[in-house]
Amino acid sequence: MADTNHIIQQIQVSGIRRFDEAISDVPDIIKLTVGEPDLPTPAHIKKAGIQAIRDDFSHYSPLMGFQKLQAAASRYFNQKYQLNYAPNEIIATVGATEAVATALITLLNPGDAVLLPTPCYTSYEPVIAMAHAHVIPIDTTTTGYKLTPAGLAAAIQTNHSQRLKAILLNYPTNPTGVTYTKAELAALVAVIKQAGLTVISDEIYSEITYEQPHTALATLYPAHTVTINGLSKSHAMTGWRLGFIMAPLALITEMKKTHQYLVTSTSSISQVAGIEALTHGLEDGQKMRAIYQARRDYLVTRLSEMSINYIYPTGAFYLFAQVPAAFKGTSWAFATTLAQQAHVAVIPGSAFGAAGEGWFRISYAASQDALRDSMNRFATWLTQQQA
Ligand SMILES: Cc1ncc(COP(=O)(O)O)c(C=O)c1O
Repeated sequence: MADTNHIIQQIQVSGIRRFDEAISDVPDIIKLTVGEPDLPTPAHIKKAGIQAIRDDFSHYSPLMGFQKLQAAASRYFNQKYQLNYAPNEIIATVGATEAVATALITLLNPGDAVLLPTPCYTSYEPVIAMAHAHVIPIDTTTTGYKLTPAGLAAAIQTNHSQRLKAILLNYPTNPTGVTYTKAELAALVAVIKQAGLTVISDEIYSEITYEQPHTALATLYPAHTVTINGLSKSHAMTGWRLGFIMAPLALITEMKKTHQYLVTSTSSISQVAGIEALTHGLEDGQKMRAIYQARRDYLVTRLSEMSINYIYPTGAFYLFAQVPAAFKGTSWAFATTLAQQAHVAVIPGSAFGAAGEGWFRISYAASQDALRDSMNRFATWLTQQQA
């Protein structure tokens, strides 16, 4: 191994990407793997991006983003979720990914601990490790894949001798598709407040909730919440790389430095497209949500017909399902076998931490045809296993 930083040596490319790469050569594979919208960026946003190139937006922007973008984000997140961030409390980042990294690197001291409900998105733990801090996982498998006040209080109590600094929440949740009601969040905030924790709240899927409206955590705990959001999922803009960190000014002032030395600023062209999305694209996410909801409804019907256990998703575009009992082996082995034999690719639950073992994630950010064909193949394969 090359003589490099030992923390980097210990981390790996995410299980999502590794699995996806491993099965990419299977002929005629239908991929329900990577979590990005299959839908195109809305036309009016693309047009704004094209115009930005024509208008020579080819220079650096201010570090935190164009003021017009900060102002548009401030208004948008206020209208959508009643958040009260002033424009100068918002940094435009290179997707939510950089937002999470900048927030964690700025907040954490070496030796700090971060509470993390699991299974969870893959990018948190490696970044926490890079900051010389560590994760205290809170297993949510026995509580419907949701963090409960009792589970949180128990984790705080058990780890009271550690330097508990923050809790990282993500809802609607990748990989399980669960989300929280306002009452559930308020009950969690009571425990968080008592313990004096900062919250990093990754709400990148906030526009994709089905049976209930999204409650932003910062509306309940404004002084100690760092809100992460962005346009990747709400406006089908993953490749434009535009996210946001929103936090009280004292925190943002510190994060601005981390952001500068990591990336300087995000793409000027994307920022202009972002201004359009945030100003005239308030309904864009809702149209997409209706499409995802129809797909979710289709998938839960198909999985129920196959007697596959799953967590009923109330947000995001993921469905977390249990490896069929007939299959003896790990979730990685299951997903590999399904890819090779049925030509359907799903992500093994273990990619989302030990708590995900025994389960698999379906991304339904895929066309209706792909969903129908993949479920037909899955059903045929299952029948063959049971024969
Ligand atoms: C929970 C969560 N946070 C952050 C991200 C990264 O978002 P972005 O593409 O804006 O960097 C993802 C992407 O899948 C995600 O699922």
